[in-house]
Formats: sequence, C-alpha cells, structure tokens
Amino acid sequence: MNERKSKNIVLIGFMGCGKSTVGIKLSWKFKMPVIDTDKLIERNAGVSISQIFEKQGETAFRDMETGLLKELSEQSTTRIISTGGGTPVRPENRAYLRACGTVIYLRISPECVYERLKEDTTRPLLQCENPLEKIRGLMQSRRQAYEECAHIIVDVDGLTMEQVLERIEEQINEYERQGVCE
Ligand code: S3P
Repeated sequence: MNERKSKNIVLIGFMGCGKSTVGIKLSWKFKMPVIDTDKLIERNAGVSISQIFEKQGETAFRDMETGLLKELSEQSTTRIISTGGGTPVRPENRAYLRACGTVIYLRISPECVYERLKEDTTRPLLQCENPLEKIRGLMQSRRQAYEECAHIIVDVDGLTMEQVLERIEEQINEYERQGVCE
C-alpha cells in the first residue's frame, strides 16, 4: 500500500516513542502531508513549548492543544498528524483525535523512554530530579487514556524504525479490511 485515499492517520504515545519521526516516514511512504501539533502550537505562539510552560503554565498549553485538535477534527483532510505525548489525557481531546481519523498508539516502556530522553532538555515535564520515576508515574496515569483512544496499538520497544513502519502498515491494512467487512 503506497497511497491512501481515506482519512488522517493520527499518531499518539508517550514522549520519545517516535511519533514525529514515524510521522515523517509515513508521510513519505503513503505520500501524505504530515503535521505535528507541537510544532503548530509553537508556530502559532511564536515561542517554544518550554517557554509556553514556563511563562503561561501547562494549562495554557493544554488549552492550545485542545483548540488545535478541535480545528483539525473539523477539517476533511488526508494527512499524518503527530501529536504531543499528553494530548489524549483530556477526554474531549480523545474524541477529537478519533474524529480526525485512524489513531495509532506507539506504545513504549518507561525504561526505553528514559534511555532515549535522558539527555533531552526540550521536555519541560522531564526536567526534574528523578526523570525515570516521573516517566513511570505519568505513563501509569496515562495508560488507559492512550489505550482507550487508539484504534491500533504498536509496541515499539526493541524495534527498528523500519520494523515499526512495517507493523503500522500491516495493522492499518488489517484494520481497514475489518472495517470494510463490518
Ligand atoms: C508532553 C509531550 C511533548 C509536548 C509537551 C508535553 C507530555 O510532546 O507536547 O512537552 O505531556 O507528554 P512529545 O510527546 O512530542 O515529546
């Protein structure tokens, strides 16, 4: 499957699970444009996410996220949408995400996130004394929201990017085939 003529593919999952990179690769593979909600929020606000958290607080950022998702859910487009790690936490966001299209959850373990992000300074929520504990806690509190929101779940621990893309393609095909048979 190289071209998709249906609706958006939405990527959700914890920080560091690979949403942005997978989004770009899927965009090449399916010849669909890609957008990244974090980048759009930064562009609209004219400052980085870290600065939004610092100057306006997390709730202001979450409100921007919800506003953007609402807009996206009202547009009839066919693109890849990468989201922020906390996007599915608000119930209304989960409804907007599912209204946008097929939601794929890239599931990752806390240890794997920690390994990938231990040197990262761009995630305000992880700039703390014990990032691994923070990751575990956040992931635990979000697990249900991610799973509830997803149409498709792909476990990414230990997989290469190529393998992640293969799994996604297989599972989208399977999901769409089931949809046609329903
Ligand atoms: C967040 C994840 C980040 C970004 C913000 C908050 C979260 O996105 O939206 O720092 O709450 O998990 P990534 O998942 O792209 O890092």
